[in-house]
Amino acid sequence: MPYKILIADDEPDTLDLCSKVLKKEGYEVLMAKDGIDAVKAIEREPFDLLLLDIKMPGKNGMEVLDEATAIGLDTVMITAYSSVETAVEAMKKGARDYLAKPFTSAEVRSVVERIISHQMLLRTESHFDGEAERFESFVGNTPSMQGLYRTIETIAETGCTVLIEGESGTGKEMVARAIHQKSPSKDGPFIPINCGAIPETLLESELFGHTKGAFTGAVESKKGLFEAASNGTLFFDEIAEMSPALQVKLLRVLQDREVRPVGGTEIKKVDVRIVAATNKELSREVAEGNFRDDLFYRLSVISIRIPPLRERKDDIPALVHHFINKYNKLYSREVSGAAEQVMKSLKEYHWPGNVRELENVIERAVILEKGKMITPKNLSTGIKGRIRESGQGHHKTLQEREREYIETVLKAAKGNRTKAAEILGIGRRTLYDKIIAYGIKEPE
Ligand SMILES: Nc1ncnc2c1ncn2[C@@H]1O[C@H](COP(=O)(O)OP(=O)(O)OP(=O)(O)O)[C@@H](O)[C@H]1O
Ligand SMILES: [Mg+2]
Repeated sequence: MPYKILIADDEPDTLDLCSKVLKKEGYEVLMAKDGIDAVKAIEREPFDLLLLDIKMPGKNGMEVLDEATAIGLDTVMITAYSSVETAVEAMKKGARDYLAKPFTSAEVRSVVERIISHQMLLRTESHFDGEAERFESFVGNTPSMQGLYRTIETIAETGCTVLIEGESGTGKEMVARAIHQKSPSKDGPFIPINCGAIPETLLESELFGHTKGAFTGAVESKKGLFEAASNGTLFFDEIAEMSPALQVKLLRVLQDREVRPVGGTEIKKVDVRIVAATNKELSREVAEGNFRDDLFYRLSVISIRIPPLRERKDDIPALVHHFINKYNKLYSREVSGAAEQVMKSLKEYHWPGNVRELENVIERAVILEKGKMITPKNLSTGIKGRIRESGQGHHKTLQEREREYIETVLKAAKGNRTKAAEILGIGRRTLYDKIIAYGIKEPE
């Protein structure tokens, strides 16, 4: 998905220059002609970056900046050369950088590229820098995690096929990326494919490519992912969801190391490392007849099991601090830790969604927390239930809590429903229905 950038400026020339440059770089670009327009746009849809003129009619850039930082939107100020001081002021308020007019297209490109690549880094969570760093992006030092790091180091360089098993949210994709980063093919691409999310017919042509006219809609020939991942790693996520027909085809590729595009006759050699992951126990799927045993043996030449979080609770405090730091940066917050009883309940909870669930809990708490320490009131109900709150006469119903929670999140997101829905982990439509059902009044 391309990164989406909003440019807000009342000067058509500036809009024109920036949008041309950025579109050429492959970004999706939207434009706003003044501050009011800009606010409407960021409330309506999510952006990855905002280029914002300081002087505009209606609502000036500094006012818009407040709204942007409130929802964690990275912003670059555009300013006249003479008012660089204002730009510096803006950076104190949370802007990431500024462009002083008149600027060149190269300057626009480089500012944007720097911020977007930083975002990519945050998103992929892989802070690997060649061989110099070890496991920077992993947090956790319990014996089982140390064992995991050692395994990754040993197998990474072999280039052999790896199967990663672990409950959802345990860090399977992170492990897959680490294996790639530490392998001889680290300079090649890492391409993840979610086998559960792509329909069978599409998956086949995605993987193997197709020739022009191979099927209705194949107007051009297309390279498959096996070819695209050449000299890199292909990561088959949720491998258990792959259809029996495709399982056969994948097995053949693993055996022969070659592919034939759909509709084609020409055979192409593939040189790709295969890593697969599943949150099911694949041997059980084999026993139950849902997964081919021959493919299972091919894939699990080496298999790695990531322990669920409840089996390594001593890692929880380190993870909590790691995520607090991450979201402090992302939302410009200054939370410094978690209250003692909070940490205790976090350690008692059983974490069915593992590290991902913990990360979500901390993200919400950081957003909602007004003080320095995460307090019980900003934890979700399931975890809060672990904290014995004595002396409370009235127990709120689940609905009351839900209503309150939605109100707080809406407020934190300054009424931006898309953002609020994201934080709440529900669809926009569901949020809308709940707003109506509870008669919630939204912040202006
Ligand atoms: N040991 C860890 N240290 C730091 N962050 C972690 C760790 N393990 C997982 N995470 C974070 O938790 C989230 C989930 O990790 P990841 O996507 O790799 O898990 P997964 O097993 O692939 O999950 P799913 O089954 O939901 O696809 C990511 O944001 C990842 O950065
Ligand atoms: Mg995953």
